[in-house]
Amino acid sequence: MCACSGMGRAMVIAARPWLRLLLGLAAAAGVLQVRGQRTPSITGFISIDCGLPEQGGYVDAATKIPYTSDAGFTDAGSNRDVSAEYMDPRMPRTHLNVRSFPDTARGCYTLPSLTPGSKYLVRATFRYGNYDGLNKLPAFDLYLGVNFWRTVNVSKVDAAVVAEAIAVIPDDSVQVCLVNVGSGTPFISALALRPLENSLYPQANATQALVLIDRRSLGDTGVLPIRYPDDPYDRAWVPWSDPEVWTDISTTEKVRETIGNLRFHVPSAVMQTAIIASNDSRNQTIDFSWDVEPNHAYPVPGCIGILYVAELQILASNDVREFNVIANGKKNKLPYTLEYLVADAISNREPHHGYNQYN
Ligand SMILES: *[C@@H]1O[C@H](CO)[C@@H](O)[C@H](O)[C@H]1NC(C)=O
Ligand SMILES: *[C@@H]1O[C@H](CO)[C@@H](O)[C@H](O)[C@H]1NC(C)=O
Ligand SMILES: *[C@@H]1O[C@H](CO)[C@@H](O)[C@H](O)[C@H]1NC(C)=O
Ligand SMILES: *[C@@H]1O[C@H](CO)[C@@H](O)[C@H](O)[C@H]1NC(C)=O
Repeated sequence: MCACSGMGRAMVIAARPWLRLLLGLAAAAGVLQVRGQRTPSITGFISIDCGLPEQGGYVDAATKIPYTSDAGFTDAGSNRDVSAEYMDPRMPRTHLNVRSFPDTARGCYTLPSLTPGSKYLVRATFRYGNYDGLNKLPAFDLYLGVNFWRTVNVSKVDAAVVAEAIAVIPDDSVQVCLVNVGSGTPFISALALRPLENSLYPQANATQALVLIDRRSLGDTGVLPIRYPDDPYDRAWVPWSDPEVWTDISTTEKVRETIGNLRFHVPSAVMQTAIIASNDSRNQTIDFSWDVEPNHAYPVPGCIGILYVAELQILASNDVREFNVIANGKKNKLPYTLEYLVADAISNREPHHGYNQYN
């Protein structure tokens, strides 16, 4: 039997001077944790609601993180509201307005006051919402510093595209640039930067960075992503549960971390729900698969996957939960076992190259 509390996958793509990008998809399990006494620090967070009027700063309702307007971070583009039919007040406020860059080939933000050589999570969010009234979904390229990050190809008028990178930033500031590729006007809804300890995500270093594919909290986690303050770095763990395929399990007990797991520091809230193979799955297998798409900058992308596991059930004394992880047909040498209420992370240290699909 295999219990999977969380899971991640990431991809490395080829290199420019200091940055190789790694796409990551992570999934993990969680219920909202009872808040601890101490709220984690937001020192060093930069949280920008792009397109907000200059004096319009506010505190985000869900995370209690203060957001500011983008005045002072960019000198190009102009502010627009999404069209009235997409002005849904249940949406995060960042999704209701954008900054668009109709008059420039390259619209840039500068994120200041960084510690050179430190690791950061950078997240850009794009919700079109027909802000320009053209009802035409644009595509454009995104750069982090001088390095290609990814293409933003908007495929739904009201769904947000989220681009996330984990990178070592060499200087005391970094630019995030939107580049017009002739497929519509670039725009942006939100831009956020969160400091990480340099020991986190060791696959991100001075010469390669990680680009998120997906990050999931497995099990019956509720409808909203788990974010700050449950995750002190404000990573978003999107719920993923499928009762027709998996059986959800959960605990109200806190799930501790092992030394090994400190590489990724998965929140207890994410670990407190999990999935196991359902009873009628004959081979007791949990299957995930995902695609890694080559692009013009990275024709042979690399990939890492991160699987977060913990035992959440008290087993009978003569029962053992033991499992293998098989990645594209390649099996680990010894089976894994789990410790009760202790989180562990299973991942490849070196990125895999040469596959367009992972199973
Ligand atoms: C965006 O996606 C559409 C549909 O998949 C595709 O036809 C188009 O070429 C893409 N645009 C870019 C710039 O990648
Ligand atoms: C970054 O990690 C890769 C392996 O994943 C390694 O080849 C490269 O040398 C590392 N770069 C630095 C600066 O340590
Ligand atoms: C799965 O089977 C076991 C043993 O037959 C049973 O105790 C358990 O309730 C079943 N679980 C579900 C979700 O059906
Ligand atoms: C387990 O069974 C499922 C179908 O129930 C199948 O898709 C999957 O390939 C099987 N896995 C293994 C490792 O045999």
